[in-house]
Amino acid sequence: MKSTPMFCKILAAVAAGTLLVLTFTPAYALDNGLARTPPMGWNSWNSFHCDVNAKLVEETADAMVTSGMRAAGYVYVNIDDCWLLKRRGRGGGLVPDPRKFPHGIEAVAAYVHRKGLELGIYESAGATTCAGYPGSIGHEKQDAAQFARWGVDYLKYDNCGDYEGETYLQRYTAMRDALAQSGRRIVYSLCEWGNKAPWNWAQPVGNLWRTTQDITPRWRTDQPDNLYPQGILDILDQQAKLSAASHPGAWNDPDMLEVGNGYLTDEESKAHFSLWALLNAPLIAGNDVRNMAQDIRDILTNRDVIAVDQDWGGRQGYRVRDDGNTQVWAKPMSDGSVAVILLNCRRGPVSIATTAQAIGLRTAASYTVRDLWKHTDSVSDGRIEATVGTHAVAMFRVWAGSKSGVS
Ligand code: GLA
Repeated sequence: MKSTPMFCKILAAVAAGTLLVLTFTPAYALDNGLARTPPMGWNSWNSFHCDVNAKLVEETADAMVTSGMRAAGYVYVNIDDCWLLKRRGRGGGLVPDPRKFPHGIEAVAAYVHRKGLELGIYESAGATTCAGYPGSIGHEKQDAAQFARWGVDYLKYDNCGDYEGETYLQRYTAMRDALAQSGRRIVYSLCEWGNKAPWNWAQPVGNLWRTTQDITPRWRTDQPDNLYPQGILDILDQQAKLSAASHPGAWNDPDMLEVGNGYLTDEESKAHFSLWALLNAPLIAGNDVRNMAQDIRDILTNRDVIAVDQDWGGRQGYRVRDDGNTQVWAKPMSDGSVAVILLNCRRGPVSIATTAQAIGLRTAASYTVRDLWKHTDSVSDGRIEATVGTHAVAMFRVWAGSKSGVS
């Protein structure tokens, strides 16, 4: 057999290299300069469903200020489905329901802005929204321009309604382009439910993309993947494979928070919040923040945990170990420390342990371990261990040596 000439081998190697570079070039982010850290805010859906109105949104904005949420980093006040009339207006524009928003969306946006917060709205990349209101397909430019005129800062773009023969890429890029031409900088949140694996294509399309079906305030529903609705652990399982897909401006979105809602115990809410922070998830509260208990407020405003969410150390948090009943998750932080979660999925207290080495820290004579829920520091020889109660987490941030990183 004739041997392959050297230059062919080189050519093949170069081609393979190019292919490799093409395949592994990190996907870029939507070039709108927004959501450089995971968006933080509130959304009406998880607690209020279609019962949304100006009073609720404005009272929520007030509560976000008085509760300390704004000071802790929450910015967006997001109106979900059902804010509009079932028919478009004469000029084809969307019409806010006058019973719910008597002074329109513009007045609510102005109110929210006066509070130092930003306003989000909801639409769908189909003929109707999930609750049956007019969708934006075919009206992208008109609707985006309308949102911009009203002073909207964030759009959640759902996946309901007839697609009128368009592909998911056509539907989601049409609104991206319309927003870009709208004259206002608007965070673009894709709510495609993970149906077409958006972690593979959505980085240049939106600032964040839903990775699953809808969340529900339960620890676990034991539904197989992608069935509605999803408990905290069902969703968590689906995130384990996605940690390489996100980066500043382009985030995986495992759905809005259920902290303080439904059947979740306080420990479950803490675990949910900790895990979402470790995943660099958007922290969009979904409870009634006007009437929340002190312990729920304390969870949502835990700055040690929020700091993990808002820090980009080069990689979203990932699962280090899954023993079925217990799991270990870790995330590199930009100062060289590592955030770690010891998770007890089941009932009854259990001792969970990992090591500084297993979570990616360099060898050091000693380590500083900060408990992100107790807010206390201790010194360790590298073993990270805790007894973790029913459906709960222990969450730490670990530095090799002292906190400044000196051994
Ligand atoms: C879908 C979305 C939810 C919510 C509802 C509104 O189910 O995934 O988050 O926006 O629609 O109808």
